[in-house]
Amino acid sequence: MKQENNRRTEHIWYPYTQMGDDFAPKLVEEAKGVNLKLDGQWVIDGISSWWSVLHGYNHHSLNDALKFQIDKFSHVMIGGLIHEPAIELAKSLSTICGRSLNRVFFSDSGSVGIEVAIKLSIQYWMNKKQATKSKLICFKKSYHGDTTGAMSISDPEDSMHHIFSPILMKHHFFDAPSSDPDIKRDQLKKIDVFLSKKHDEIAAIVLEPLVQCAGGFNFFTPDYLDELRNLADKHDVLLIYDEVATGFCRTGTFFAYHQSKTEPDILVCGKGLTGGYLGLAATITSDKVFRAFYAKGEPEKAFMHGPTFMGNPLACSLAIKSIDLATKNNYSQKFLEIQKILEEGLLGFTHPLIKRIRVKGGIGVIEVYNKSDIDGFGEYAFNKGAWLRGFESFIYTMPPALIKESELRKIIGIMKDYFLDKN
Ligand SMILES: Cc1ncc(COP(=O)(O)O)c(C=O)c1O
Repeated sequence: MKQENNRRTEHIWYPYTQMGDDFAPKLVEEAKGVNLKLDGQWVIDGISSWWSVLHGYNHHSLNDALKFQIDKFSHVMIGGLIHEPAIELAKSLSTICGRSLNRVFFSDSGSVGIEVAIKLSIQYWMNKKQATKSKLICFKKSYHGDTTGAMSISDPEDSMHHIFSPILMKHHFFDAPSSDPDIKRDQLKKIDVFLSKKHDEIAAIVLEPLVQCAGGFNFFTPDYLDELRNLADKHDVLLIYDEVATGFCRTGTFFAYHQSKTEPDILVCGKGLTGGYLGLAATITSDKVFRAFYAKGEPEKAFMHGPTFMGNPLACSLAIKSIDLATKNNYSQKFLEIQKILEEGLLGFTHPLIKRIRVKGGIGVIEVYNKSDIDGFGEYAFNKGAWLRGFESFIYTMPPALIKESELRKIIGIMKDYFLDKN
């Protein structure tokens, strides 16, 4: 096994990992439904491959969509060319967003989709001859990706990116959104007061709607979004939602912001867009934003950005099929059913090591007081038959929509048994 592990670690540089420590990545041999065969053992995947896998692995309809497109063509540049899958997907996303969000800029990952949103929001004001509006309002506990612009709008102190703080563009950070009515009122008041003084410097407010995911699983209520929309309108700044993690029904509506009464000016989605098969992201803007770039005979107002693999036809074909499956089979409802089972199974469970348990849509989280108490949780879960991992002070599940009730109950059992077995 040692020799085999050397082969797995000799040339690959693994993400988020101190490879000098004990480290033994598992080999994926097969994947089917919500199950992964890892080093010869079938286990239930409780985290959807970084929250991207929506339907499960090796899904026949998605496989067919991919095969159909691969026999036509796998890739073409979008500069000066276009193809049916991109046209159809852009239409489908605009229809789902409804109202004014109707322009889609494709890229290849969530982080790049965020870079696009940041640049669009800043250039929007340049094009309107208000170039001083170039900073963003951001929130603690936020995580928007690992590229430089995305890091600059993610929590600057309490995050894995903090060492880069000195070289990042400086934005303005406010406390993570709270659902407590008094704290919330106070938080929004602070943003209001700040914007009253500084709106000439602010391009946009950016946040993950309803669930701040990788920055600490902070959940908050939809009225917060409506309040931010009011503030954005009042002080003439744009509003950007990062739905890279929350999109595609995971919180119980197609996009999380659909639980609010209002909408953003720019929305970014990725991860589950292709059902978790291939990298693809979309930055969707309102007509208002698009019109600031649309000017005959003014090339400097154009948006100068174009990732080589933006709108890849294979990825777009998958996304069309994935969205079709999610809407026809009412995945929002499926995630609400998952929510109910998670609530029944997790809420109310107590243990001296546990600080708090929370559930939102298809996301179930146990937070502990001490990070070190979840060392070894991944291996424990694997030995009990599930692929789950902890990070920081959290263990969590965020399974694919098609997980069976028995599989979900097994995951919940493993999360709880981990603590009970420590006694
Ligand atoms: C909310 C959010 N935004 C952006 C990203 C970055 O996406 P990607 O890893 O596809 O670059 C992530 C990744 O976890 C995310 O959770």
